[in-house]
Amino acid sequence: MKITKAVIPAAGLGTRVLPATKSMPKEMLPIVDKPAIQYIVEEAVASGITDILIITNRGKGVIEDHFDISVSLEEILKRAGKTEQLDSIKDIHKLANIHYIRQIETKGLGHAVSRARTFIGDEPFVVMYGDDVIIGDIPATKELIDAYGTFGKGVLGIKPVSEEAIKKYSSLKVENIHDNVFKCTDMIEKPQRREDIFSLYSILGRCVLPPDIFEILDHTEPGAGGEIQLTDAMAELARKDGMTAVEFTSKRYDMGNKLGILQANIEVGLKHKEVGEGLREYIKELAKTL
Ligand code: UTP
Repeated sequence: MKITKAVIPAAGLGTRVLPATKSMPKEMLPIVDKPAIQYIVEEAVASGITDILIITNRGKGVIEDHFDISVSLEEILKRAGKTEQLDSIKDIHKLANIHYIRQIETKGLGHAVSRARTFIGDEPFVVMYGDDVIIGDIPATKELIDAYGTFGKGVLGIKPVSEEAIKKYSSLKVENIHDNVFKCTDMIEKPQRREDIFSLYSILGRCVLPPDIFEILDHTEPGAGGEIQLTDAMAELARKDGMTAVEFTSKRYDMGNKLGILQANIEVGLKHKEVGEGLREYIKELAKTL
């Protein structure tokens, strides 16, 4: 079955990025000149997704405005002859069919995904974490969808992380099948004890899930941090049916913490056609003083 639907949970409180996220969703924080969530929507579209459900919350209206048409701004840019700026905004609302639902209560990523049940119906779908931006020539979501086509099981987008980082992420029990493709049979969210760590492979921001996940989420109890964790529901799926894991090719940036935001801006900035050269010179000069 062709996968055409994606869910982007963007209803978190973003407490690690306060005060920037007091009134601005972290998914709208820019990487150079585009909000994080636009990179994610563009990755979805490049992977064949046509319909996207963004899970929002109070104060997330700016996300809806960003993917809407702005007739008055377009008129002003047209009249001023600012063609390049006009080109940068005029097609944003045509990227995909974007739908919205509010999470109402911020009870965790698993709870946010369960809000997508009616939108998804009986199809496999993609989850794209709203604060994980993945940039590169090969869209990560496309690699996951291809693996779903081959193995017919839920697929996780993974990368190895440091032992320090694994305690804040998830840890997966994986077995290599070939190249960057693995079989996953168990996982744990935020393992605190060394003996609970299956491997240093962690889910970083993308997965393809069968619709069965909704029934599992119905009985998933709050886990790490008192939140209903998507990882706990996926662990049940992995133990029951097995899942596939793909070490995706492109680079992932964590927009959920301050250092990750700075790294994304520097790396993407260095490749940016308008500011790349200037930024390179600036960093070289600055480095002499460090
Ligand atoms: P995080 O756990 O990184 O987001 O969830 P958070 O809760 O905003 O983070 P901090 O710890 O307070 O800084 C990953 C993704 O899941 C969404 C977030 O918006 C983020 O994109 N999420 C999280 C929800 O949509 N709802 C939730 O209840 C929790």
